[in-house]
Amino acid sequence: MKKFFITLMMVLLPVAVQAAGAKVPLDNIDVDHTDKASLQRGMTTFVNYCMGCHSANYQRFERAATDLEIPVEMVEENLIFGNQKVGEQMTIAMSPADAGNWFGAPPPDLTLESRLRGDDWLYTYLRSFYKDDSRPWGVNNVVFKDVGMPNVLEGLQGVQSNHCTPEELLHQEKKIDPLTGKTMGGCLTLSKKGSQSAEEFDKTIYDLVNFMSYMGNPVMLESKRIGTNVLIFLAIFFVFAFALKKEYWRDIH
Ligand code: HEC
Repeated sequence: MKKFFITLMMVLLPVAVQAAGAKVPLDNIDVDHTDKASLQRGMTTFVNYCMGCHSANYQRFERAATDLEIPVEMVEENLIFGNQKVGEQMTIAMSPADAGNWFGAPPPDLTLESRLRGDDWLYTYLRSFYKDDSRPWGVNNVVFKDVGMPNVLEGLQGVQSNHCTPEELLHQEKKIDPLTGKTMGGCLTLSKKGSQSAEEFDKTIYDLVNFMSYMGNPVMLESKRIGTNVLIFLAIFFVFAFALKKEYWRDIH
């Protein structure tokens, strides 16, 4: 019995440790790599709004064009701004050293960011900038306190104000309205309108995070397809293996 309890404690310890860290509640996103139109819109937003500062060094333009079903010429004409070739990686000209000086921290490469932080975190982060005049860029972020990144999507989203204490901000309870299914409450409210409505902006970020999730795991669809085929093969193979086993053991009793 004592051994059982010691084992139980050891199994539960990591859970307890995790629960102790302050966790901001994250909004949920279900990415869909089969939705090519969403991925294409996401790539457009990424190239236009993020690649000024962030690279995606492990992603090639051409591979994205193929996977997202965008004609290569269209990528060359509309999504590559420098003199890069379509076969090259999505690098940027800004040097990390300069960027570190300008922003306090260099903007990290974003190819694998969705694997590092998770899609829910990204979806919440990009929608959680709020006005904070004590910060160098005039904004702070709920899930990334004192972030060094300006709110580059402010033109689309508008300006959000926070009306909670820092402590409340971390534990803000968002409730789902049972009638509309939308989230209500929370600490942030829109104090200046942007060019998109709240729903449109959520959609823009959905598409953007969908694309970043694709970059982090470009073979997700392929592995699901192969995985299903392997399981089907195993199921069929089981019938033959079982028949063979019966044949071998028939006379041994
Ligand atoms: C003006 C430059 C700039 C632009 C444009 C920009 N960022 Fe950033 N970003 C930064 C900087 C600087 C940091 C580092 C912040 C820090 O560590 O405090 C950062 C950090 C991040 C992080 C957190 C990285 C981590 O895990 O620590 C994510 C995610 C991110 N940016 C996503 C984006 C996305 C998506 C876009 C496009 C919509 C974008 N950024 C556009 C400058 C920029």
